[in-house]
Amino acid sequence: MKNGFSRRHFVGGAAAALGALGLRPGSALGALKLPPPPPGLAQLDPYDRLAKLSSNENPYGPSDKMMESMNAAWKYSNRYGYPDGDILEKIAEHHGLDTDHIIMNAGSGETLKVAGIAFLGHEEKVVGVEPTYMSVYRVATGIDADVIARPLLADHTQDIDDLIQVTTRNYRDVGLVYIVNPNNPTGVVVPDSDIRHLLDNIPEDIPVLIDEAYHHFVRDPRYSSAVKYIKEGRKILVTRTFSKIYGMAGLRLGYGIAPPEMIHEMRTYATGSVNALVRWGGVAALEDHASEKYVRDTTIKLREATMADLRDQGFEVIPSETNFFMVHTGRPASEVRAEFRRRDVAVGRDFPPMLDYLRVSIGTEDEMKRFMASWNEIFPDGMRATGAR
Ligand SMILES: Cc1ncc(COP(=O)(O)O)c(C=O)c1O
Repeated sequence: MKNGFSRRHFVGGAAAALGALGLRPGSALGALKLPPPPPGLAQLDPYDRLAKLSSNENPYGPSDKMMESMNAAWKYSNRYGYPDGDILEKIAEHHGLDTDHIIMNAGSGETLKVAGIAFLGHEEKVVGVEPTYMSVYRVATGIDADVIARPLLADHTQDIDDLIQVTTRNYRDVGLVYIVNPNNPTGVVVPDSDIRHLLDNIPEDIPVLIDEAYHHFVRDPRYSSAVKYIKEGRKILVTRTFSKIYGMAGLRLGYGIAPPEMIHEMRTYATGSVNALVRWGGVAALEDHASEKYVRDTTIKLREATMADLRDQGFEVIPSETNFFMVHTGRPASEVRAEFRRRDVAVGRDFPPMLDYLRVSIGTEDEMKRFMASWNEIFPDGMRATGAR
């Protein structure tokens, strides 16, 4: 099937959650905080007023160690050749691979674009699900390639047998298979057994792109990174980002892991524009395990507390393995979103065909309180008010 896309009472919950972690905002690791806006700006700048729960960002920003490392790198800002902390080597080492398996980009968004351009020929197709992260699909339409987007199953999982069938049926035309794991916007994982099943049952010369942007948040034991399949010599590209767990979305750092031949094909199209500060920030991020754990644990606790509050009110919430979740609003999510926006809370956009589900990113404890307070105003009678079941 071709999709229509182409060419076309929370306070207790959150406080208890942080209490259970033994964390207080402002505690040692609570120092993982963005610098406050300059005096006066907070009142003036609408951006700073917003609770930003719409783009799956990390609300804490770079850790102190990352900031120190980046600050020390200012001295390279007027240079071309400079020590960069061996960021490429550090990434390669992190995965137990050589640097010829790594392509580093200005965000994994760039890696996705480069992969689309490198692997999708004229009128070739990318096969994946809908809804998912749209970047690769957008590249496909932009370069006169095409998208075969298949629906999710009723339980919001990706239908791997269906993807196998479609890929095999369109073998000659398929340039790329795209799996986001865990998926955005649903937060649902593809179990490792399904990934292996997919790889074992599609022609082995079709590249498979597995986007692991939310890898660090997953606790489901059925999940495992697909990097091991690259080590088996399969034609796979795994993408990772520093935007989520490491809080570098505005700084732009991401990378791809693949067999050297695939990396070589992609390099032609990459800009290589990762600046000196970001390189040093990335090295520090990979070494700062305490901050990584703080972000993961706090995010998961706040997510589970918020989801539990919504479920207590009778709302369906899709179980999530990421720093966001989807809740069934029972009416157009766009209307609900507008009501949130009036309260200075930004929540996710439309994800057709799931138009009565709202995607909510996990912010700070304070932001989640604001989310829940607004929710209680918008849905004063819980799920009954929506008329949905
Ligand atoms: C699944 C997925 N992949 C990739 C990205 C791009 O991230 P970045 O370009 O910041 O690395 C995102 C961002 O939200 C995402 O959700």
